[in-house]
Amino acid sequence: MDPRCTVITEALGAEGLRWFRAPGRVNLIGDHTDYQDGFVLPLAVDSDCVVAARARDDGRVTVRSLELPGVVDVAADGSDDPVAVEPSWGRYVAGVVRALVEARRAPLGIDAVLSSTVPAGSGLSSSAALEMAVALALGGSALTASDLALACQHAEHLATGVRCGVMDQLVSVLGQAGHALLIDCRTLLAEPIPLPDTYAVLVVHSGMPRTLAESAYAERRATVDAIAVRLGVPTLRDASLDQVRDDPLARHVVTENQRVLEFADALHAGDTARLGALLLASHASLRNDFEVSTPELDLAVDLLVEHGAIGARLTGAGFGGCVVALTDRAHVRDIAAKTLARYRAETGLDAAAFVVRAVDGAGPLTTPKGA
Ligand code: GLA
Repeated sequence: MDPRCTVITEALGAEGLRWFRAPGRVNLIGDHTDYQDGFVLPLAVDSDCVVAARARDDGRVTVRSLELPGVVDVAADGSDDPVAVEPSWGRYVAGVVRALVEARRAPLGIDAVLSSTVPAGSGLSSSAALEMAVALALGGSALTASDLALACQHAEHLATGVRCGVMDQLVSVLGQAGHALLIDCRTLLAEPIPLPDTYAVLVVHSGMPRTLAESAYAERRATVDAIAVRLGVPTLRDASLDQVRDDPLARHVVTENQRVLEFADALHAGDTARLGALLLASHASLRNDFEVSTPELDLAVDLLVEHGAIGARLTGAGFGGCVVALTDRAHVRDIAAKTLARYRAETGLDAAAFVVRAVDGAGPLTTPKGA
């Protein structure tokens, strides 16, 4: 049994608990495209947030975490303003409570304890995993998967004030074991694409937390929204390369959409060389056109490729956090070890590398024994 479940059962008592889990994600390709109705290609990963909840009848939602300090205690009717909630991680909980009420779910009081193995602040969507797990504990599974993802995306907006896209929440609920998802962020439809076992997906954390990510993200988003208005298109999904050729931010969005579709084709075709070239082109575009990379992320990408990765790129919002690499599975340990050693020698930073597995999306957790 997952040791987290033992600890949670001890904390809450076994009686009447309902259990759920929701995974984090890594995005193989397609960053800063989701909020322009574009294409993304993430996978749900084998780090997750688990939650156990018991109903209570006094209209309160209380949540504790095995990792984070404090007790979250908010009204189940969504009347607490998420941004004012303390401890600060409770803002995501309060955001979910309010978003579900706005989605016309009946308020549900619960006592819950959660525990997450998704590293915070790394670009692997720890907040989406938490939102999704809490949403399920609050009865969110009555919504369709896409409505649930939209509610959790709204929760993130309420909690942080940052208008993120829907990728993280969608893949957290729709993920499929052994597959990446080609998601059309306009239709919210996802096509699972098998990830051959001969490849490994390696994530390297640069050892630098994401800094200024929220303000820089908001600023990028506002700028590309304004470009779409100026071009007279609903979103940059509808812009042609000719229309954006001289505008680096918009050019990134348009070319990145194209790369995602080509990457999906190359995965189907098993065209390893093309996959690598597309990953590197995506990183170059995020670095040069969208300007969300850092010297550390650039170095990690270079070292991974130098030591034999098929390709690598920063993943998620950028400004620190993680890079993702595709490697031959047979060589992944060697590539990771050599990359980390050189990275430490050149930066003095301790990076961390881990191989992720594509897992199923969020849902009920088989009730742990004794619970
Ligand atoms: C963050 C956001 C996502 C997406 C990525 C960049 O993870 O939450 O919606 O915009 O950045 O691709």
